[in-house]
Amino acid sequence: MCSIIGYTGKFTAASVLVESLKKMEYRGYDSVGIATLDSNNILIRKGVGKVREVDDSLQLYKMPGQVGIGHTRWATHGGISKSNAHPHTDCDNNVVVVHNGIIDNYQQLKDNLIKQGHIFQSQTDSEVIAHLIETYLKKFDIKQAIIETCKQIHGTYAFVAIFKSGLVAGARLDEPLIIGIGNNGNFISSDVLGFLEYTDKAIFLDNYDIVILDDKNINLFDFNGNAISRPITQVAWELGDIDKGKYAHYTIKEIHEQKNSIPMAFQINRSSLEKTVDIISSSKNIFITGSGTSYHSALLAKYLFYKFAKIRTEIIMSSEFEYVSGALDENSLLIAISQSGETADVLNSVKIAKQHKAKILSIVNISTSSLCRLSDHYVSINSGPEIGVAATKSFTAQLAVIYSIIDNFCTNNRPLDMSTSMFSNILNEILTDTSYLEKIAEDLKSVRDIYILGTSYHYPIALEGALKIKELAYIHAEGIAAGEIKHGPLALIEPGTIVIVLNPEDETYYNVLNSIHQMKSRGAKIIGISNKNNDLYDYFIRLPLVNKYLYPIIEIIPIQILSYYLAIKNNANPDYPRNLAKSVTVK
Ligand code: G6P
Repeated sequence: MCSIIGYTGKFTAASVLVESLKKMEYRGYDSVGIATLDSNNILIRKGVGKVREVDDSLQLYKMPGQVGIGHTRWATHGGISKSNAHPHTDCDNNVVVVHNGIIDNYQQLKDNLIKQGHIFQSQTDSEVIAHLIETYLKKFDIKQAIIETCKQIHGTYAFVAIFKSGLVAGARLDEPLIIGIGNNGNFISSDVLGFLEYTDKAIFLDNYDIVILDDKNINLFDFNGNAISRPITQVAWELGDIDKGKYAHYTIKEIHEQKNSIPMAFQINRSSLEKTVDIISSSKNIFITGSGTSYHSALLAKYLFYKFAKIRTEIIMSSEFEYVSGALDENSLLIAISQSGETADVLNSVKIAKQHKAKILSIVNISTSSLCRLSDHYVSINSGPEIGVAATKSFTAQLAVIYSIIDNFCTNNRPLDMSTSMFSNILNEILTDTSYLEKIAEDLKSVRDIYILGTSYHYPIALEGALKIKELAYIHAEGIAAGEIKHGPLALIEPGTIVIVLNPEDETYYNVLNSIHQMKSRGAKIIGISNKNNDLYDYFIRLPLVNKYLYPIIEIIPIQILSYYLAIKNNANPDYPRNLAKSVTVK
């Protein structure tokens, strides 16, 4: 959601903070702010827009001082405006705060604080934190003021405050907060990307942890004020490698990276795979959850588990999980799928499953994430950093991991031939020349609706394809199970309606052709994605020949590219779709 960064050390804080915020902008990008401490004065500059824009207009990087905090916002409470941008200050500008999360009881706290004479400058929930700290500082030291503040606020938070003494304090509950220990100062951040350029030594704070730090010392406490210790983790430097290289956008770079990321994801560590198979085999009831794109991976897993492992799984969207969790018990397994491992809905599902004593197995990209730490076991999809807000390479890597797990249940007759060299050639073929997809995007850029049809394990891909078009190009798109069109969606078809069909030659082929006939005879324009052309298609996107069960992994790629071109042709920024964020850490 929002990104937080704090720094105290030898460098000028503001220039460090600006660069860190640019790297974490995927977390929210509607407004930006920085506060620094300069000769006992707290300075604040903030504005609406992306980091580069606000920095250009306000010269954030020139702010003096070696202690500072910064924030990029994804608005929840209070509109997108300068006054609602963080940091927020108390009445006397003695303490300044940045926050990620939602303070559920903020209105009640705010009303009380106003009665006591506090003056608020924003409509945000976050501002109450600054005023509560101000109140408690009248009676207590910084440590106790933070503890008392945390006891008052209900909801989810990671917040960081700086004080005139030069101390930096932070606390977390259900939102990520990570300390970076550098040679030239210390950091506190929502993501390791915020400080990886300077240090790979990190401390991942747990829920209910409080930290007070300066450029040399880091002190951790629990909510009772007892000193605690947390291990120092060495994070992989490659996570910091987030250059766009020769590409205009991260999204298209990451789409192309699938040439390597898919084969990499198939190479799961043997012992991790065996443990995964053991956990699944010993569980009576298996639930799978995820949000957005990861939910579509979960849906595909359902088809594959049924077909190849004869295992029944129940798939529950993470945001719906709490309402249907009654059947979980100690014999249950929850498989949680999440690129970031920080999605609040997913973490909430895991929490509920743990309360029912279920086991947790997760499939994640970021192995230092909260989800990994909550899981009995996790499998990494090994995709490297994915910056584009819309998931691309992480989706196909999740699928590769799911296929690898399921392949292990097919002991007698292995129908899934997944040789990685074969995959590399196929991916090269798909990604080498994308000009035809660009041409289709030119023809489609002004359409209002796009429907995508698929049956069986192509259905989750139809849903994912529609999500990509919506997210990147802001065109209404809907994934439909092909057999369902006659039960309603046909009413929407009129001459010229665009219908994309996923129809490689497999056991679904003829059923889908029937649905295409029904669409075509009502005037639909058909874009066929298949290994085999057909006269019914107005446009034909050829897929290379692969094992028929593996088509779901590759057939999404042309739709990702098409969505990217549709975004470009509609002047949308594919890396940062409006109103969205990559890591949604609020419910
Ligand atoms: C956000 C992103 C989606 C993503 C979803 C789940 O909504 O915009 O692209 O699929 O979160 O993210 P996760 O990290 O849990 O896979």
